[in-house]
Amino acid sequence: MRVLVTGGAGYIGSHTIVELVAKGHDVCIVDTFRNSSPEVLNRLEEITGVRPLLHKVDVRDRAGMKTVMESYKPEAVIHFAGLKAVGESAEIPLEYYDVNVQGTVVLLETMQAVGCKTVVFSSSATVYGAPQYLPYDEAHPCAPSNVYGQTKHMAEQILTDWQLANPDSSVVLLRYFNPVGAHSSGRMGEDPDGPPNNLMPFVAQVAVGRREKLAVFGDDYDTPDGTGVRDYIHVTDLARAHISALDYGVKQAGTDVFNIGTGTGYSVLDMIKAFSKASGREIAYEVAPRRVGDLASYYANPAKAGTVLGWSAERGIEDICTSTWKWQSDNPRGYGA
Ligand code: UFG
Repeated sequence: MRVLVTGGAGYIGSHTIVELVAKGHDVCIVDTFRNSSPEVLNRLEEITGVRPLLHKVDVRDRAGMKTVMESYKPEAVIHFAGLKAVGESAEIPLEYYDVNVQGTVVLLETMQAVGCKTVVFSSSATVYGAPQYLPYDEAHPCAPSNVYGQTKHMAEQILTDWQLANPDSSVVLLRYFNPVGAHSSGRMGEDPDGPPNNLMPFVAQVAVGRREKLAVFGDDYDTPDGTGVRDYIHVTDLARAHISALDYGVKQAGTDVFNIGTGTGYSVLDMIKAFSKASGREIAYEVAPRRVGDLASYYANPAKAGTVLGWSAERGIEDICTSTWKWQSDNPRGYGA
């Protein structure tokens, strides 16, 4: 199948392309490299033996997207392109709404113009907001508490409404929990621009000597060891979920939504310990105040993805830490080395 992957040079997009090519799909990337590196194309070629087609186009660029759609004629789209930093989303909200919401509108308009009817969307567990119960299932009310989460929730609604107006189309919404880990080859992984906002890339940079120590944001939460608990999902498992979602989406019309997580929560201290073991390095840390907006604990009920998509996570925190360490130690400066 011809699959257009917006944001295909990014962290999750690139790992998904590896799985797509392994399944025999033809892939075309749309990316601006705003938060990714063109070096990813070389790494993808190394791993898969295929250099994906690339269009350096912004998803908000209607004329550019129209040209891409008309020349590639995708049979399905996986839509990753977007901005993703919770803190930054409060500083430049209009930019977040423009890229994440308007970008989705333009994507759907230009898909429709060429009769493309299937889309898998990169959403986030952050759409749920503060847990009314745990684990979150897909029926949990959505009340995002930050701009980033709002943009994902709005995009989900736009996709749902588009599907309703186009009854033979198919929308699969994937709500990711905390994506971590790297490709087993050590050739691809997460490469944040500047100091990492997220736990695992920060821990990895401390281990490799790029940062002095980790700040643990709060040790007085109501959790077993007082630090925040999250559902860490290996990026390769997450990539596989997109293949399952695509297979499902092309078979039937409608909109469906799935949590993509493991169902198990680990604390910040659990992750530090596991990373220290995998890397053989001490991870220096100090306890700092809570980060504004952080929740104490949340994790997925991923049962629906198991029953309906036949997908479940296969990799645990050992694999997450080993692969992250291989990526970070082989590429201490990420793709920019
Ligand atoms: N943490 C630290 N120190 C750090 C970074 C994080 O102690 O330097 C802690 C956080 O307080 C939290 C845990 O590590 O308890 C995980 O934090 P991350 O920043 O890695 O992840 P979040 O759960 O805050 O956010 C992630 C994604 C968001 C997404 C959100 C909800 O980064 O994009 O999950 O799905 F919106």
